[in-house]
Amino acid sequence: MTEADPLLDLRSEPPLGRDYSLDRDCTTLSRHVLEQLQSFSADAQDLSALMSRIALAGKLISRRLSRAGLMEDVLGFTGEVNVQGESVKKMDVFANEVFISVFKQSGLVCRLASEEMDDPYYIPENCPVGRYTLLYDPIDGSSNVDININVGSIFSIRQQEGEDTDGSAKDLLQSGRKQIAAGYILYGPSTMLIYSIGRGVHAFTLDPSLGEFILSNENIQTPAHGPVYSVNEGNFWQWDESIRDYTRYVHRHEGYTARYGGAMVGDFHRILFQGGVFLYPGTVKQPEGKLRLLYESAPMAFLIEQAGGRASTGTQDILDVIPEKLHARSPLVIGSTEDVALVESFIQERSRERDAELAAKS
Ligand code: AHG
Ligand code: MN
Ligand code: MN
Repeated sequence: MTEADPLLDLRSEPPLGRDYSLDRDCTTLSRHVLEQLQSFSADAQDLSALMSRIALAGKLISRRLSRAGLMEDVLGFTGEVNVQGESVKKMDVFANEVFISVFKQSGLVCRLASEEMDDPYYIPENCPVGRYTLLYDPIDGSSNVDININVGSIFSIRQQEGEDTDGSAKDLLQSGRKQIAAGYILYGPSTMLIYSIGRGVHAFTLDPSLGEFILSNENIQTPAHGPVYSVNEGNFWQWDESIRDYTRYVHRHEGYTARYGGAMVGDFHRILFQGGVFLYPGTVKQPEGKLRLLYESAPMAFLIEQAGGRASTGTQDILDVIPEKLHARSPLVIGSTEDVALVESFIQERSRERDAELAAKS
């Protein structure tokens, strides 16, 4: 018998799971932001503090979700309907308030705008007011909460431009290229925070024993193509023919696989790391689709572009879309460059056909 290789012990999984930190320096989120900006300027400090506050909100939400089935008043609906016309869940309300309470006294933001609030929340006069606006979807995929499947929170940071004395927040009605930072927190088997300040996309994993998000993946690059297509095919009957063409194409070609979890954050996360495409196209009932531009599509578009992928409405880059109102929706095709281009090619083809028909009639 040969002698046991002492290194083998270290490499093999010990029975109770040894703690192998991917990042042995334990880079925390706030340090990472400052390192990225290579500065201790006021702007850099603000951005670092903003990310730390978002991380705190993520920890509070994660903690509640982790015990949801054991606590009263966590699961289920409130009985209210939000500005989107959707039934509000108790976790939507809780998570919405968590973001407000962690930012209210922070001196970092002047407003918070959320999918769950008709109008932005303005920091009251007796609290310190900052220069930034946080836009967020407190719980993405909230139908998953009651069945203990992954959900997320999506965030976007913009700087206030000009005065907003009438409370209309009109300066937020600008393209997604105005975002300073964006990201999401995924409440899955691990809680992860993925963010970009326009210098690549980086992932942090919450170590619950430390209560800290620790760097786990730096400079994530989305492959140019992936096998996954992620779309709610139950809407087939009410899609435009071009989207039906695309789904028929993937059904009839080898190399595609469907994945759909009912929470864009989870579906997007898979595609960010492994490639593929996520779609939420318009339907007959909702030609603009379901997803909200400012709180969902634009932040994810910011991330995917930073990771070398693309986000499109089908005819225009998401980051170029200017919303008409705070709660504007837009169709979304997001993921690997080649897979987004394939979906767009079917949309363009049908549009050319329609133009030709119109030209023939006139
Ligand atoms: P939210 O829970 O914030 O309303 O968002 C849910 C969104 C998105 O995350 C998900 O991909 C999509 O709605 C699922 O919608 P369908 O059930 O229509 O597929
Ligand atoms: Mn959502
Ligand atoms: Mn939501």
